[in-house]
Amino acid sequence: MTEERRYMLLTGASRGIGHATVKLFQSKGWRILTVSRQEFSEECAWPSARESHIQADLADLSQIDRLAATVRERLPNGRLHALVNNAGISPKGPEKSRLGVMGTDADVWTQVLNVNVVSTALIARALMPELEAAKGSIVNVTSIAGTRVHPFAGVAYAASKAALGSLTREMAHEFGRRGVRANAIAPGEIETSILSPGTDELVAAEVPMGRLGDPREVAETIYFLCTEPSSYINGAEIHINGGQHV
Ligand SMILES: NC(=O)c1ccc[n+]([C@@H]2O[C@H](COP(=O)([O-])OP(=O)(O)OC[C@H]3O[C@@H](n4cnc5c(N)ncnc54)[C@H](OP(=O)(O)O)[C@@H]3O)[C@@H](O)[C@H]2O)c1
Repeated sequence: MTEERRYMLLTGASRGIGHATVKLFQSKGWRILTVSRQEFSEECAWPSARESHIQADLADLSQIDRLAATVRERLPNGRLHALVNNAGISPKGPEKSRLGVMGTDADVWTQVLNVNVVSTALIARALMPELEAAKGSIVNVTSIAGTRVHPFAGVAYAASKAALGSLTREMAHEFGRRGVRANAIAPGEIETSILSPGTDELVAAEVPMGRLGDPREVAETIYFLCTEPSSYINGAEIHINGGQHV
């Protein structure tokens, strides 16, 4: 008997960590469904990238039922083996300045919380039958900014990532008996477009390993959390930051 092809739904695949994660899972034989606001990014040059992409804006929670229905149509056996909630936004002020409490208005709060937290809960809720059928794994992408004040990440971003860490524990608690695991990964400074000017100095001063992380190093941890070697890990948050949190 040939082994069933595994399916992953990954939000925010058009660049950065999401991009690297798709490439790794594809190299291991997985089928990938991707979500982002863009219709399609020409940078996503993996096989069947265009057909497997679903356009949705996760800031608009009314789009999630349609997104889930489209995902469901594309799963041949009704099984979703991994859900990776990676899409995230980190709005900045003028000249990429940090948005503190005084600089953050209600619209920014709503947008950041919808994309970074609320949409992840609603996607998991909508696709629970498919995750349960596969005994699937959820990986939420949090951040070092969720547990300590970060010089570049804004207040809404930091609060959203702390909330996502808490949501991960809630998911692990609630979904464990369904056979669905939920974990988080908390990257530090990873070489992607989300980084701010001044990151090199921050890395030199604060990261014991003295270098940025590579998106591939994050992807490898996500892969571990979605496969058998991590089969008893549930409700964990793994730091991927070269020791920046110590
Ligand atoms: N890079 C780091 O150092 C670092 C550190 C800590 C945590 N993280 C976290 O890691 C995750 C990925 O970060 P990254 O650096 O790879 O980010 P990135 O390069 O900015 O990519 C973000 C992805 O999210 C998608 N996205 C943004 N808003 C969206 C929306 N409203 N609806 C749907 N998709 C949306 C983007 O695609 P579209 O533009 O096409 O929508 C893009 O594919 C994020 O959750 C981030 O907070 C990153």
